[in-house]
Amino acid sequence: MILVTGGAGYIGSHMCRLLRERGLPHIAYDNLSKGHVESLPGTPLVCGDLHDTDLLTDVLLAHQVRAVVHFAASIEVGESVADPLAYAQNNIGGTISLLQAMRRAEVRDLVFSSTAAVYGNPDTTPIPEDHPKRPSSPYGFTKHAVETLIESSEAAYGLRAIRLRYFNASGASPEGDLGEAHNPETHLIPIVLQAALGQRESVAIFGSDYPTPDGTCVRDYVHVADLAEAHLLALDALTRGVTGAFNLGTGTGYSVREVIETCRQVTGHPIPCREAARRPGDPATLVASDTRAREILGWIPTRSDLEQLVADAWRWHQAHPMGYVAQEPVEAPGPAMRRSEINALKRSAAACFEAHGWTLPPDPKWDVTDFGLGDWRREGLVLVNLAEEPEYCEKLMYAQRGMVTPAHHHRRKKEDIVCRWGRLAIRCHAAGGGAVALRRNGSQTVVEPDQPFVLEAGERVTLVPGVVHAFWPESDECIIGEVSTQNDDVNDNVFEDPRIGRFPGILEDVV
Ligand code: UFG
Repeated sequence: MILVTGGAGYIGSHMCRLLRERGLPHIAYDNLSKGHVESLPGTPLVCGDLHDTDLLTDVLLAHQVRAVVHFAASIEVGESVADPLAYAQNNIGGTISLLQAMRRAEVRDLVFSSTAAVYGNPDTTPIPEDHPKRPSSPYGFTKHAVETLIESSEAAYGLRAIRLRYFNASGASPEGDLGEAHNPETHLIPIVLQAALGQRESVAIFGSDYPTPDGTCVRDYVHVADLAEAHLLALDALTRGVTGAFNLGTGTGYSVREVIETCRQVTGHPIPCREAARRPGDPATLVASDTRAREILGWIPTRSDLEQLVADAWRWHQAHPMGYVAQEPVEAPGPAMRRSEINALKRSAAACFEAHGWTLPPDPKWDVTDFGLGDWRREGLVLVNLAEEPEYCEKLMYAQRGMVTPAHHHRRKKEDIVCRWGRLAIRCHAAGGGAVALRRNGSQTVVEPDQPFVLEAGERVTLVPGVVHAFWPESDECIIGEVSTQNDDVNDNVFEDPRIGRFPGILEDVV
């Protein structure tokens, strides 16, 4: 079993696809802070945080993991300059936690996602692996620091590791279903293709006075599918006793202007651009010496020809102009119909409270959110916010034959479920439909998907961070309780999802 941290991310999801295609057992581990669960069809996902060493250890042991491919990290150079401590915490701290978990679970093999940013502004080009490391950004520093820690861990604990230094990862799956969907997007090729789609007015060329043939920066663009292949070869090489650092690039550089011109040819769009100031920290030229990866890993990139790479990326961007979200907005239910439905459900909920002898919370100001992408209407679920506690706290007040769709709830990273009133019966499953581990009253219990867990009034269960892929009310009975999230930005994800209609004001006269 192979564990892929950051498996829901751009490169991680391509890795998982390759493992699926080759029939190699694997699981993804991702906190979904940046990743997209939609990019992992068919791959089991444990939605957890790198800093949760206990959970990582549990996962490594429970799934008898033999090797880890570690992608999970923060990756924006600019962001790292603005908040270097957050980068150190996530990239270095997170990897320390992973290495601790691997030690505890006695997992020895690691493939680590590193970067050309460890070299900084290089003295020579193409850059060999033994070139001095002088990272010019906190991001590059964190990756270099982790590489150093990994090397020390190899000496101290018998870890066996391969560090892969990517140059400019780009492209999308040849099938067009996986691709780059960063938010915000900073990378050149997606930005140029967004301009081709009309999502941006023009492309800013950051610097046109570099010591390069046309004055713009030169980079070594490598196809994400080729990168995934290199990880597979690295896993294999580890079993032969190969360790160390490998550049992953093609050995060929293209300038920013050349990339834009290729995008024009592939897309047939004029793609307006304008010259802008240099972006701080950009080296003029970054091109890999790729001989080591070719000779030792046997890696031969097959899709990294720039035109091919852009064509794959273009297919993805055309089919997914909004990234991993549904292209068709969900039809909003008509307000009149909705109002009457809600009133009916409210009456029904009140009857349910009464039948159970439960007391309604004082002065409930009900609001209805459309979390379930409209499914609540079909499924008979009402999710309400109580105005008395509006801050990121949705109350699951009443449901009958209810279902909170995974599309809603897999986005949550950490959930507490509290039974505030009466009795709350919940069922849940992990990604892929399996059992989940829940922490309840301080101890962990495993709950099967077909087995409801019931909370009595006052009880609280913490869903082990994100391990639960979806949860929904047990359908046979009325359930009354509350779901609260401990993660502020979760609601942003939910509410900003363009699929979710918002209907301000329509309930004003309901209560
Ligand atoms: N660029 C523009 N305009 C844009 C965006 C980028 O001119 O709107 C230029 C950049 O200045 C750079 C080139 O396009 O010269 C490529 O920029 P990217 O942001 O796509 O990629 P980088 O080379 O800056 O960064 C990549 C990875 C980093 C990694 C680095 C290693 O994204 O994670 O390579 O050198 F650290």
